[in-house]
Amino acid sequence: MTENAKCLPSPPLSELPACEDREWSRMAIGILQGDGRRSADTHLVKPVFKGLRGISIYLKDESTHPTGSLKHRLARSLFLYGICNGQIREGTTLVEASSGSTAVSEAYFAHLLDLPFIAVMPHSTSRQKVDAIEHFGGRCHFVDSPAEVYTVAERLAAKKGGHYLDQFTFAERATDWRGNNNIAKSIFEQMKAEVHPEPEWVVMNAGTGGTSATIGRYIRYRNLSTRLCVVDVEHSAFYASYASGDRNVTCSTPSRIEGVGRPRVEPSFIPGIIDHMIKIPDAASIAAMHVLSDRLFRRVGGSTGTNFYGLCWIAASMMREGREGSLVSLICDNGDRYAATYYNPDWLEKNRIDISPYREMLETFIDTGEFRTADAA
Ligand SMILES: Cc1ncc(COP(=O)(O)O)c(C=O)c1O
Repeated sequence: MTENAKCLPSPPLSELPACEDREWSRMAIGILQGDGRRSADTHLVKPVFKGLRGISIYLKDESTHPTGSLKHRLARSLFLYGICNGQIREGTTLVEASSGSTAVSEAYFAHLLDLPFIAVMPHSTSRQKVDAIEHFGGRCHFVDSPAEVYTVAERLAAKKGGHYLDQFTFAERATDWRGNNNIAKSIFEQMKAEVHPEPEWVVMNAGTGGTSATIGRYIRYRNLSTRLCVVDVEHSAFYASYASGDRNVTCSTPSRIEGVGRPRVEPSFIPGIIDHMIKIPDAASIAAMHVLSDRLFRRVGGSTGTNFYGLCWIAASMMREGREGSLVSLICDNGDRYAATYYNPDWLEKNRIDISPYREMLETFIDTGEFRTADAA
């Protein structure tokens, strides 16, 4: 036996102290699991669009989580992931890079666990999201461009001796994609009694890429024939990267659709599980948001408009081919967060966004089935 291979001396196991902070993490996990247990599943709503003969549309309403968006699930997962990895402990300062929604949900969980929280976000983040973060006791640190959020958040966390939650890296792995009540499992369980229980397509936008990663992996894991279409927005690196296979693509103009479209290809974006990708103008996303809000009698957010335009685009292709079936997408958040922007005609004019041609086209489509222009990439 060499010197290196000898057993090192160790005190009796009974004398070893328990892992530092074990009591705190036990309490913290109990609180996070309690939040999950108190939450009901989100609705899978089925609006009727009389022009879409043979096509059933379903929208999973993630706006009804306690913090108002699909990011409630991710925030809970990121906290559990950090605690179980020993990175989040009693008193740890948490820092996140966000366009707003994730930070709102993380501020809520930080408040539940009595942890300091700092959100690093672009100046353009909606006032309602900033107010919600501050309401939960979080602090907001603003930067000029979305591309700066990563390094500033990392630096701030290091300076505070805290933990950078880093949703853009960890979204795809913090969520248990095989099941454990994730969004994909919930969708497919809720579809079971429908006429077409296995959707032809699930349509999803991309911010971190984490939700599409969970859905795409689950589809494969369960051997389903459903396909996944990801819809990218005007100012974003994802589509060009998907088309070229180059993960180093960047986009210097900030996305105007909050929550989706990124300046770089995020580590959580997994192209291998995507069956098809389209890229659409911001005017199309915002027009679709208005049309869907009118038909649901309540406001949805801009990224939900991105999803709805993608759904219509896929539905039109299926109808042209004479196919029938179901399509599923998400209501990502509530439109009241965007009263000052997408729902404000002055903001639209200032940003030179004319939604009327898309609005008319989508209304005609859902009422008659006639899809006049198909200008997605
Ligand atoms: C409002 C909104 N919609 C959609 C998304 C995209 O979800 P994902 O990050 O899972 O790609 C986000 C992400 O932050 C969001 O905030």
